[in-house]
Amino acid sequence: MALMEWRDEFRLGIASVDHEHQQLFALINAAHAAMGQDGSQAAVGDFLGEIHADIAAHFALEEKIMRERAYDHYAAHKADHERLLDDIRDLMDDNEAGRFGDGEPILAARLKEWFSRHFREMDARMHRMLDADRHGKNFKPGGA
Ligand SMILES: [Fe+2]
Ligand SMILES: [Fe+2]
Repeated sequence: MALMEWRDEFRLGIASVDHEHQQLFALINAAHAAMGQDGSQAAVGDFLGEIHADIAAHFALEEKIMRERAYDHYAAHKADHERLLDDIRDLMDDNEAGRFGDGEPILAARLKEWFSRHFREMDARMHRMLDADRHGKNFKPGGA
């Protein structure tokens, strides 16, 4: 079974961003499937490294957009990105120290919880700002 199940409620309504988020899930699932074939410490290390790189690339893109638009919640949004990357790095350290064990359910739960919350609270707000920008309106923070 796939590690990350895409759900319709994750959709932000902006095709390019929804596409990138779905692609991220697919990449995570592909790396996870590869680990299923080989659960050795080295394979788990590769899997975590791949996830970290894919997610970091997506975050870097969002952060670039936010900097270009002088987004008012940039610091908080970036801090939330950093928290997830730190979590993944901790799991990589655990794996290298031979402590990953059955860390996989922890990783799955953490990624699912993190993404659904971050999409809802952080990305949705950012995309409302981009949308308001595109239509020449002033961005009004808050609201759903
Ligand atoms: Fe995102
Ligand atoms: Fe984000």
